[in-house]
Amino acid sequence: MPDTPFYGEDQAAIHHSDFGNLARDAATLLLSLLGDAGLRHGTVVDLGSGSGILARVVCDAGYRVRGVDISSDMVNLASEHAPAATFRCGSLLDAEIPRAVAVTALGEALNYATDPRAGLEELDRQARRVRQSLEPGGVFLFDISSPGWDGPTGARQQFHDRDSWTLYMRAEESPDRTRSDRFITIFRTTGPHTSRRSDEHHVLRLYDLEEVRQILRRVGFDVEVLTDYPSGAPRKALPDWNVFVARLRPQREERRR
Ligand SMILES: C[S@@+](CC[C@H](N)C(=O)[O-])C[C@H]1O[C@@H](n2cnc3c(N)ncnc32)[C@H](O)[C@@H]1O
Repeated sequence: MPDTPFYGEDQAAIHHSDFGNLARDAATLLLSLLGDAGLRHGTVVDLGSGSGILARVVCDAGYRVRGVDISSDMVNLASEHAPAATFRCGSLLDAEIPRAVAVTALGEALNYATDPRAGLEELDRQARRVRQSLEPGGVFLFDISSPGWDGPTGARQQFHDRDSWTLYMRAEESPDRTRSDRFITIFRTTGPHTSRRSDEHHVLRLYDLEEVRQILRRVGFDVEVLTDYPSGAPRKALPDWNVFVARLRPQREERRR
């Protein structure tokens, strides 16, 4: 576990109120993929489930959702936002993955090195676990950041200013481009004349897109790589960040091969 808060109360609340579009768009894509595969009910496992935004949409569409997240503040928000789903606090690397129609990991959940075991070897192990648990036609949907995420200089800054909070992030990529360190400072209003500062330091492993594609293919998935989750309100394209749609063939097609 990191020594600073990780998606603590303030960052979790800001994620839920202002950065939920990605999960909503991913949920729309997931429901359409499951519909196309004829998988109209069953279990969806959400790794790094955050504040439960995808879980809520997918539960409302009639699926069971199990989420796991390492941040207890995120799990608390998720339990309120998606009460029909079940959430557990822990590392996604150890999450139980029952028989499922889909497994998701959105918002770079697989990049975070919150769990020191995170890395390409572990990604390979997770892909195998997911493959074994998915029903024929099932989907593994996730997004990851790759070397270059921090731009050509290897350093990037973001500043967001809203009525009740401001967030400043400084990100630095390691010279070998395998790691991104993000230093985040938040000021959030806590009362009419008071605000509070919180600092977080996130470490992410950056994975080469082609290596991830190869892992998924080796494990037995059909793989499609997208530049974003399709959205009604397109986001500014992020460099070196991609969405992976990894599908298992439906049983009838598998038998014909
Ligand atoms: C950018 S947020 C995305 C949350 C959610 N998937 C969404 O799209 O709204 C990344 C999430 O991954 C979680 N996370 C990071 N590393 C994790 C780990 N090893 N195990 C479980 N959750 C993790 C964080 O706590 C956080 O909630």
